[in-house]
Amino acid sequence: MLGQELVRQMGRMPKYDVLATGRDAEPRFTGGSCGYTRLDISDDEALARLFDDFEPNVVVNCAAMTQVDDCESDRERCWQVNADAVETMAGLCKTHGARLVHISTDFVFDGEDGPYREDARPNPVSYYGRSKLAGENHARGAGTDKWAIVRTVLVYGAPEMGARSNFVTWVRDKLTSGESIRVVTDQWRTPTWVVDLADGVERIVRYRKSGVFHVSGREFLSVNEFAHRIADVAGLDRSLIGEADSTTFSQPAERPAKTGFIILKAETEVGFRPHALDDAIRETLGMGPSKPTSASS
Ligand SMILES: NC(=O)c1ccc[n+]([C@@H]2O[C@H](COP(=O)([O-])OP(=O)(O)OC[C@H]3O[C@@H](n4cnc5c(N)ncnc54)[C@H](OP(=O)(O)O)[C@@H]3O)[C@@H](O)[C@H]2O)c1
Repeated sequence: MLGQELVRQMGRMPKYDVLATGRDAEPRFTGGSCGYTRLDISDDEALARLFDDFEPNVVVNCAAMTQVDDCESDRERCWQVNADAVETMAGLCKTHGARLVHISTDFVFDGEDGPYREDARPNPVSYYGRSKLAGENHARGAGTDKWAIVRTVLVYGAPEMGARSNFVTWVRDKLTSGESIRVVTDQWRTPTWVVDLADGVERIVRYRKSGVFHVSGREFLSVNEFAHRIADVAGLDRSLIGEADSTTFSQPAERPAKTGFIILKAETEVGFRPHALDDAIRETLGMGPSKPTSASS
């Protein structure tokens, strides 16, 4: 999801010569001036060849095993992609003098006292979180200061070719078909529109920033409240949304309760300004931007 949006935004900017990669033979995007090559990031030799061929100045690593429950059942694969491949990539970045911008997650935190600043102490409660934290440590530990870690939270957007559905489109689809859903009231997040996230990443690339950055939406709410906001914006029946808590569903991976981010650093250092939640939901659902009120126009 993030990779496709970065291609859409950065592929249009003449100052970048973008090469996108993915596991498929064919790219999952159309248009733009972006190159594409097939790459499994856990194939060390293929990675090294790509660095030799393309000689990147900047590498943005959006690839990850992101299905949190699958990471519990296939721990070996999860570690290969989320940790080991990042170690190889960071080493290659150092050798080639490239800057590494590595995407990470709120799931590195235990969710006891969010929303979090960048210097909060990680303490993952799932294997996915542990593997992503190990990836962070490889990104920052390669022996160069040309690295940035961009952590984000509950990302949503309009799915493009072959992209997985996400929370906003899932809620819309369920409610549109008249199905009841149950959504947790005891998990809090700062949901992130993928368009804002890609903009934040591009700014960190543009300003050659190093260090950890929290890039997310600004509004802090429970996932259940988020579902209600989606229903309200889409004009769907909010009475179909029932309550649940973390004990309701038997999921292999534990989810942190209260994450979400304080984004002051990204706001002040790179001018990051995420859209208001309702506006971003409207755009995701293809409803266009909200009309300006007389007070704001
Ligand atoms: N989505 C969220 O709510 C969220 C929240 C916090 C952080 N993040 C982080 O944000 C980043 C981007 O996630 P996303 O939301 O864009 O997830 P996504 O849509 O699942 O994208 C991850 C991509 O990584 C690819 N990938 C997996 N293993 C690979 C491998 N060995 N080699 C090459 N590509 C591989 C996947 O390819 P296939 O499609 O072929 O599997 C997929 O296209 C990740 O680092 C994730 O941890 C996401």
